[in-house]
Amino acid sequence: MKAFQVNAPLDYAVVETKAPRAAAGEVLVKVAFAGICGSDMHIIHGDNAFVRFPRITGHEFAGTVEALGEGVEGIEIGARVCIDPVVSCGRCYPCRIGRPNVCSALQVIGVHRDGGFEEWVNVPAANIHLLPEGLGLEAGALVEPYSIAANVLERMQPLRGDRLLIYGAGVIGLTILQMARALGIEDITVIDLIEERLATARELGATRIWHGKENVEVEVSELTGGEGIPLIADAACVPALLPQMLRIASPAGRIGLLGFNPTPSDLVQLEVIKKELTLVGSRLNNRKFPEVLERMASGRLDPLALVSHRLPFDDMPGAIHMLDHHPERARKVLIGIGA
Ligand code: NAI
Ligand code: MN
Repeated sequence: MKAFQVNAPLDYAVVETKAPRAAAGEVLVKVAFAGICGSDMHIIHGDNAFVRFPRITGHEFAGTVEALGEGVEGIEIGARVCIDPVVSCGRCYPCRIGRPNVCSALQVIGVHRDGGFEEWVNVPAANIHLLPEGLGLEAGALVEPYSIAANVLERMQPLRGDRLLIYGAGVIGLTILQMARALGIEDITVIDLIEERLATARELGATRIWHGKENVEVEVSELTGGEGIPLIADAACVPALLPQMLRIASPAGRIGLLGFNPTPSDLVQLEVIKKELTLVGSRLNNRKFPEVLERMASGRLDPLALVSHRLPFDDMPGAIHMLDHHPERARKVLIGIGA
């Protein structure tokens, strides 16, 4: 079978390799579509601390059930499925309190173990989600990025009528925008530095778009009469922006943080205390696949609006080159694996 293998940073190719057989407790999935994510790009560039090479990446994928491993029951061969990449131990503290996405022994499919950029892949049976009738395999491959959005928004505890400001109009910022709209959040501002991406945010329903070069603090003050913004989602993930987020947040505001950048932020504790702000981290997703699938199936969420490119498997290196050099041209890139 064909697989996209990263051997070492910047050393990757679509290679011919031996197809796996269904492993005990796992389900062998014939992959139809897989999406390229920013974190695949981080692995390719060697800036993901968790990955061991060689690795077949890909954590956003959907396909059909090919075979069941020993001990797996109740899943039909041929069923159309998508896969939650979060594999947790079930025994550690976070697992015991219902937070398996920060499991102490967390395994992410496509990062810690081989993922969806191959024609057949084994995944734990517990990570399979059936696609509802009428929802296609392309949409199935897009559930994971929306699960990121669903997770951070839940962590931020939106209330009716709250304004939302999203930093960053990359794929993650855009999924937060779409998911927030599906949740009924009406007033959404998106900030980015790239005009094309701001235009996409507008197209996907942002109430207003701001260029990051504008004086964001003045804009917020004018928009809110000095009150500030109750919900801020950080999908730009630039640590230097955090002090500004604290300043523009309203008292009792909630700030959802997604970045993995290890650079410290210049955080003024006083801002947090005097406004009693809530800063929440959000990692991957805590069992959000059912909610995302439900919103897609009901038509509240249009995942295909996020797709800018559909490319065959052999074009994967070219897609990576485009994402490296022309990020403004791309939204989500979907790769047809066995579709
Ligand atoms: P991206 O790089 O496509 O998007 C980031 C956007 O932020 C870009 O459009 C960029 O122009 C914009 N930006 C940069 N500096 C800015 C500034 N000063 N003001 C406003 N906008 C600015 O990345 P993508 O794929 O959308 O992911 C966003 C971030 O989320 C990444 O850092 C990624 O590592 C993180 N992430 C976190 C996850 C989690 O579970 N915590 C899951 C997935 C992604
Ligand atoms: Mn992803």
